[in-house]
Amino acid sequence: MKTRLDKYLTHCGVGTRSQVKLLIKNGKVTVDGEITKKSETKIDENNIVTCNGEIMHYNEFEYFMLNKPKGVVSATKDNVSTTVIELIKDCTHKDIFPVGRLDKDTEGLLIITDDGGLAHNLLSPKKHVDKKYFCRLDYELSRQSAKKLECGVEIEDGVITKPAIVEFTSIPTEVFITIHEGKFHQVKRMFNAVGLNVTYLKRMSMGNLVLDKDLLPGEYRPLTTEELELLRKS
Ligand code: URA
Repeated sequence: MKTRLDKYLTHCGVGTRSQVKLLIKNGKVTVDGEITKKSETKIDENNIVTCNGEIMHYNEFEYFMLNKPKGVVSATKDNVSTTVIELIKDCTHKDIFPVGRLDKDTEGLLIITDDGGLAHNLLSPKKHVDKKYFCRLDYELSRQSAKKLECGVEIEDGVITKPAIVEFTSIPTEVFITIHEGKFHQVKRMFNAVGLNVTYLKRMSMGNLVLDKDLLPGEYRPLTTEELELLRKS
């Protein structure tokens, strides 16, 4: 199947669609040895494409980093609300899904892919992949409560969370927490266990992958090759 050159390079992990268009315009891309300055050039698997002198390989899977906005559900289908999948406009693979869930009112890093193996590894409770969240609380977090969160708290009868890492900021009601599990509403329930409510929650990182600061809520971009490697090593 023929694909536009800019779309192909985006899916190879070269950069965003606009970065790729610029590279093409600047003569950094060749198709079968010829510099091609037209983003709309159609190519298929028989063409040899290079970018900055490197041969490109089409990704078997697609990987996006989304800054999930509030009000959108982490699902592939929903009868009422917009899903995170509906935000991804330029994907070629149809079966993309979110890797794990963020609550409807949570913002931040969500990986969208069709790579079931990677998703399984990242979500497996045995792998203990770290997830770091920024939390705004209704009241100040005391050092004593932070210690409790760091040791593990009971979030429901008999369910004790694994030790977390708490980092204070200069604002007493704003902290970062890193957890190694992914129980339902875990962060909110952990703070509830020490008598606090989370009023704003944003995921900052998952494993070694950090949310791109330039992505506004609702924006996304393909993962770079380096980021994908980081994620695989997480
Ligand atoms: N913990 C929560 O409570 N909510 C999320 O969305 C993610 C982690």
